[in-house]
Amino acid sequence: MNRHKNRRTQPFFEHPVFNRWDVVPAGWYHALPSNKLAKGQVKSMVLCGQQVVLFRGDDGTVRCLDAFCSHMGVDLGEGKVVGNTIQCYFHHWRYDGTGACVDVPCGEPIPKNARQHRWATEEKYGFIWVFPATEAPVPVIDLADLEDKGELTFLHGTPYTRPCHHHVTMINGLDAQHLSTIHGMEIENPSLDATAAEDGHTFTFELRWKIPGKTLRQRFVQFMLGKTYAYGMRYGFGNLGGLSLAKRTRLFGRWPFIGFHMFFSYRPVDEHRCEVQPIYVTKKRRGPMALYALALMWITQLMFMTLRDEDGAVYDNVRFNPRNLLKIDAPVARFVQYINRLAPSLWSEADLPGESVRTLQVVREPDPPPVSDRAAP
Ligand code: FES
Ligand SMILES: [Fe+2]
Repeated sequence: MNRHKNRRTQPFFEHPVFNRWDVVPAGWYHALPSNKLAKGQVKSMVLCGQQVVLFRGDDGTVRCLDAFCSHMGVDLGEGKVVGNTIQCYFHHWRYDGTGACVDVPCGEPIPKNARQHRWATEEKYGFIWVFPATEAPVPVIDLADLEDKGELTFLHGTPYTRPCHHHVTMINGLDAQHLSTIHGMEIENPSLDATAAEDGHTFTFELRWKIPGKTLRQRFVQFMLGKTYAYGMRYGFGNLGGLSLAKRTRLFGRWPFIGFHMFFSYRPVDEHRCEVQPIYVTKKRRGPMALYALALMWITQLMFMTLRDEDGAVYDNVRFNPRNLLKIDAPVARFVQYINRLAPSLWSEADLPGESVRTLQVVREPDPPPVSDRAAP
């Protein structure tokens, strides 16, 4: 991995959380689209290195538990949903949504420690999200600019991977310089705003600039969108980014425009790649105006895919190691600080602060095998 290269001549600075594969911050991670888990279905998957099982009970609620059965470790994903419980394939132990074992059908009492760890779940934007704790302190984040817009509609983009840590790819949205160097945008008098919320979960950023009016193209853009342009990001938990383009815009100087909005949801796939799941979002509209909402999301997708492809080469062989940041890079520095303050979750491979080494607990001495009258064959 690149962090081990050039160590003598380009020392690498390891952060407490930022750009670490072995630390999984407590946050909401996208698991799978809601329509991929119908009532009575079960699915085992690796989420940020943790093998979990998701199942949807008769009541329609999704539950998420550690996948390896507390009896002998079989993957509960091989089992089946019974009511609102999951039944292990091997010996039919059943667990409810809290992870408690509720049935051991062989007739023996349920062992005291027969339980699975439970992980909090939520369904939003057509996805099932999982939080690496029993209870999540806050819900999946909203897009700052759509909070007061009522019911929302969404479109899922095709997920793709990047060959680097998602904390690094997320910096793209904060990097004002690359808008001109890579994306060829003409930016005059940029003004940056970046703040980490006191709840510790979110980080917001806004960049505004004057649209120059020197060329015909620039004057046309001014005519359409006005003389200033702004976009903003709201990040959550270091892995979710809500992007709003064309903020506070009046089309042709008259009509208020809702702007273009989308989420990027990131999660590590292995120690070299992260997955990016784009979700395009806008205000839900009814009747023929539903087509307008769809068109807005398609345009957002088109713009995003162009920018994404232009950014591609940045991440192919990066060893992110900022050493000479400029004033214009201040949001990048603040973002790294924000990530480093996120709390590591139980899914982290690295030792957590204050975590003591757990010793194997013997549930109870197994009874001696029954003595058979017959001689062993
Ligand atoms: S391994 Fe699951 S019930 Fe035995
Ligand atoms: Fe970019």
